[in-house]
Amino acid sequence: MPENAFLETGCYGPVLEDSEFEFIRHVVGENAGIVLGPNKRQLVQGRLARRLRELGLRSYQAYCDHLRRSGPEELVGLINALTTNVTAFFRENHHFEALASYMLPEAMLRNASSRRLRVWSAGCSTGEEAYCVAMTGVDVVPPAGWDFKVLATDIDSEVIAFAQQGVYPLDRVASLPSERLRNSFQKGGGAQVGKAIVKAQLRAIVTFRVLNLLHAWPMHGPFDVILCRNVMIYFDQATRERLVNRFTEMLAPGGYLCIGHAESLHNLDAPLRAVGRTIYRRSGGEAHGS
Ligand SMILES: C[S@@+](CC[C@H](N)C(=O)[O-])C[C@H]1O[C@@H](n2cnc3c(N)ncnc32)[C@H](O)[C@@H]1O
Repeated sequence: MPENAFLETGCYGPVLEDSEFEFIRHVVGENAGIVLGPNKRQLVQGRLARRLRELGLRSYQAYCDHLRRSGPEELVGLINALTTNVTAFFRENHHFEALASYMLPEAMLRNASSRRLRVWSAGCSTGEEAYCVAMTGVDVVPPAGWDFKVLATDIDSEVIAFAQQGVYPLDRVASLPSERLRNSFQKGGGAQVGKAIVKAQLRAIVTFRVLNLLHAWPMHGPFDVILCRNVMIYFDQATRERLVNRFTEMLAPGGYLCIGHAESLHNLDAPLRAVGRTIYRRSGGEAHGS
């Protein structure tokens, strides 16, 4: 271990050298569209330290060699280690209010004959966002006669595995109103004591899948609403523009795209109109307030 390891990282452990950082930046940029600026070296070193321990490797050089040799297999481990999965139930609640007050009601008018409603949570992390869409949907979509489904995808296989369980530590649901808690969760027993479990009726609405947004999408759509919140923040402008155009093609005419609070489609060439705070609408269909 180089002598300066503690000074550089705040803890003893291998140091990520410039050439190794450059290689990892390149791999992550090419494969996940994630842009790691030069100031992210410490962060990458910190996040990958655990991965090195899991693999029993003693240096980042050895890790880079392993990455070169194992290809797509370790790419998943790398991306899982580097992605930021912060999320929360009803985070940026104005989107769920809009979903209930006009996005789903408009889609119900538009889809009166097919009676099909589709929402995509793209970059869903541990599933809170997707379950909130399901909870909001059951509040406003009549229980009989509507085929209401949520697709939830993320590049990170570990968060998808967690989300599929629908089991959350109590502190993650502590801030929810008690009526929401009662209606949407049951108390865990046995091995799940002290946990809140999303009710089966809601879990049945959501399908979780691993999906890299930069790759081909197997689904056909159209979606009435797409949420891609706090994901594009990692991408460069060209990747964002391509992605937003692909989202637009996946939206039904009159469908909505919701993005995160720190994101904007300003300066992006995409056929969407801003209709609210971080809410964009594809033209066509019956508009809210028109
Ligand atoms: C900060 S979380 C956002 C979670 C949720 N949408 C929200 O706003 O609360 C960002 C998520 O984007 C995912 N992500 C990053 N790059 C991705 C890519 N290329 N394809 C799919 N998901 C990606 C990460 O794995 C992470 O779970």
